[in-house]
Amino acid sequence: MESKHNDMTPHDAAEALRWLSEMGADEIIGDTPVNRLVAPAPKPALAVARAVPAPAAAPAAAAPGTSAAQYHSLQEIEQALEGFDACPLKKTATRLCFADGNPAARVMLIGEAPGREEDIEGRPFVGRSGQLLDRMLAAIGLSRTSQDRESAVFISNTVFWRPPGNRNPTEAETLMCLPFLFRMIELLTPDVIVCLGAVPTHRLTGRSDGILKLRGKWVTAAVSGRNIPLLPTLHPAYLLRQPAQKRLAWRDLLSLRQMLDAH
Ligand code: URA
Repeated sequence: MESKHNDMTPHDAAEALRWLSEMGADEIIGDTPVNRLVAPAPKPALAVARAVPAPAAAPAAAAPGTSAAQYHSLQEIEQALEGFDACPLKKTATRLCFADGNPAARVMLIGEAPGREEDIEGRPFVGRSGQLLDRMLAAIGLSRTSQDRESAVFISNTVFWRPPGNRNPTEAETLMCLPFLFRMIELLTPDVIVCLGAVPTHRLTGRSDGILKLRGKWVTAAVSGRNIPLLPTLHPAYLLRQPAQKRLAWRDLLSLRQMLDAH
C-alpha cells in the first residue's frame, strides 16, 4: 500500500506540537489502539501502596464549609494543603502549586488554576502566560521578585492543583480551595487584589457576568471585615490567544498603578 504523503513542514509540525502542548496534551498516544471497555490489568503492588489516601484523611477543619482560621501562617496553610485530599484535582496533579512572590506585597494576584509548567514546578504562573504576566507587571513597576512591598506582588490561584488537560476548575473544586485562599488573604492583608480572568473574579465577587464586562471596574472584596479594592482583569493566557485585547489589559494596569499611587 502506498504510504500517505504528509505535507507538513518541520516548522508546521513544531507549531502543531507547541499548540497541543499549550492545550495541555502531555502524553504521547501510542500507535496501537487501546480498548478501554476491557478491564485494565491490576496495578502492581507499588502503585497500590502509593495510592492517594481516602478523603476521610483530610483535616476536618479544612473541609468545605468549615473554617481555615486555625492556620496562622502561609507555611501552615501550605502544610495543610499538602495533607488535604478532599479536592479531586490533587489525584491527577503532579504536585501542589501554592503561591509565589513576596507575602508583604501590597498587591495580591489571583489566577485561575495551575497549568502544565506550574504543575511541574509547583509555582504559579511560570509558563508562557506567567512570562507575559511578568512583563505586564514590569511595565507598571511591579515584580514578584521584589523585596520592597511597594513594588512587589504575591501570586496564587483559585485552586492549588492543575485540572486535567488544563480545563477550567469546576465550581465544587474552587469552593473546596476557597477557605484556604481566603485565609491567605486574611493573613497577608494586601492593599489591593487583582483577579486574572473570570474564575477568580466570579468566586471572589459573587458576580457572574463575562470577564469582558467585569474587567477594569473596581469592586470591593469583604474579607474579615476589611473591604479590599479588587480589580478584575483579563487572564494573560487569553491575551496570548487574543493579542489585540492587550490594550484593554493595559488600561487595567494603568488603573492599578493609579490606585497604588493614590493610597
Ligand atoms: N494560569 C493560571 O491561572 N494560573 C497559573 O498559575 C498558570 C496559568
